[in-house]
Amino acid sequence: MAEQTGTAKLTIGDKELDLPMYSPTLGPDVIDITKLYAQGGVFTYDPGYTSTASCDSTITFIDGNKGELLHRGYPIDQLAMKSHYLEVCYLLLYGNLPLAAELEEFERTITRHTMIHEQMHMFFRGFRRDAHPMATMVGVVGAMSAFYHDSTDISDPRQREVASHRLIAKMPTIAAMAYKYSIGQPFIYPKNSLDYASNFLHMCFSVPAEDYEVNPILARAMDRIFTLHADHEQNASTSTVRLASSSGANPFACIAAGIACLWGPAHGGANQACLEMLKEIGSVDRIPEFLARAKDKNDPFRLMGFGHRVYKNTDPRATVLKQSADEVLELLGVEDNPLLQVAKELEQTALNDPYFIDKKLFPNVDFYSGIILEAMGFPTSMFTPIFALSRTVGWISQWKEQLSDPAHKIGRPRQLYMGEAQRDYTDVEER
Ligand code: CMC
Repeated sequence: MAEQTGTAKLTIGDKELDLPMYSPTLGPDVIDITKLYAQGGVFTYDPGYTSTASCDSTITFIDGNKGELLHRGYPIDQLAMKSHYLEVCYLLLYGNLPLAAELEEFERTITRHTMIHEQMHMFFRGFRRDAHPMATMVGVVGAMSAFYHDSTDISDPRQREVASHRLIAKMPTIAAMAYKYSIGQPFIYPKNSLDYASNFLHMCFSVPAEDYEVNPILARAMDRIFTLHADHEQNASTSTVRLASSSGANPFACIAAGIACLWGPAHGGANQACLEMLKEIGSVDRIPEFLARAKDKNDPFRLMGFGHRVYKNTDPRATVLKQSADEVLELLGVEDNPLLQVAKELEQTALNDPYFIDKKLFPNVDFYSGIILEAMGFPTSMFTPIFALSRTVGWISQWKEQLSDPAHKIGRPRQLYMGEAQRDYTDVEER
């Protein structure tokens, strides 16, 4: 826990309270209100946690005004361009960039955990073929706790580590199996000679009759998408994982909870919703109509892939992805892809529109990722599962950090109760 660096004075009626303040390495100072109810008899009210730090953390920092994202201090654009996903996983989990031997050992460990228990294949077969792959993933990841009993004791640091490795290693296999099942193709086993991203592409696109030749440029783009989604501070799904874990739930149950939360269109589900929106817009001449709808208070339509709770400037992940989209489409010879044209024009028009300028709405990570994934051959229903597999390391790192803090306790928010005061029950014939 941070050292106290100041005091905030709060007056409630005739009571004056001194609340401790802490100064983070980066970001605004924080007022500690943990004793507020005991000392002042009041709660704070902050639905949506717009001004609440729910924990202290050393993993990820975001400056939303500057459009800056740091993992363990390293800027995301440097990591996306110079590092690769498994190295970033190591960084998030252990706090520092690995030495060559540490990286080699980590990659070997993850690679050796890529298969799932054979009996888990039956679970997939229990789902309807047309189930959304996210529905399948929530179920199968939750079910991991029924298979990997030797890594569910959260009080044992070694078991926590094994669970972390298993989740990072098996998530691409589970996501690829959910996809294969949904299209009626046989499951493809992982191939340990391939790197993490190539292996995922192999499991999604190979068939027993024909191997998929992984193009290294596409594998690089896939790896970059994984890296850009790896962690994002205390977002909704990460906070869900932390809250689930605060009760002492096992890691597989906690990550299943994170996947469920990620699915919503305001969070990870936005990548699917964004591509569907771009398709619905269809051509640049329809952009004004959709922009008008996005600005209309009486229309629930929002520009998907735009806006962010924290970023009030460009999402740095979107900048890298825009460049990746250009590279991938050029490689595939589809640089005149109409969706990319609509996306670029929509971005420019929105960025120059007073509504979006005033509300500081910029393209977020979901704006360009769908275009790349679709060009690679993924259906829109796979976009959010890919986000989930990428974010698993972030969830796991935050979960490990929470459990290793001796002061951690169950998360139990309070409320501003606006319901009926106490009243007496009346018999049905007297109502
Ligand atoms: N299109 C049109 N108007 C918008 C949009 C948008 N995409 N986003 C926010 N606004 C408006 C909103 O109507 C509100 O206007 P007013 O102040 O007049 O009521 C104002 O901007 C603030 O919006 P908010 O909903 O209070 O902001 P929030 O911080 O609660 O929501 C958000 C953030 C990401 C949920 C929201 O911007 C949104 O719904 N965006 C579209 C979905 C999306 O792309 N989500 C992915 C986020 S990034 C990846 C991830 O986190 O998973």
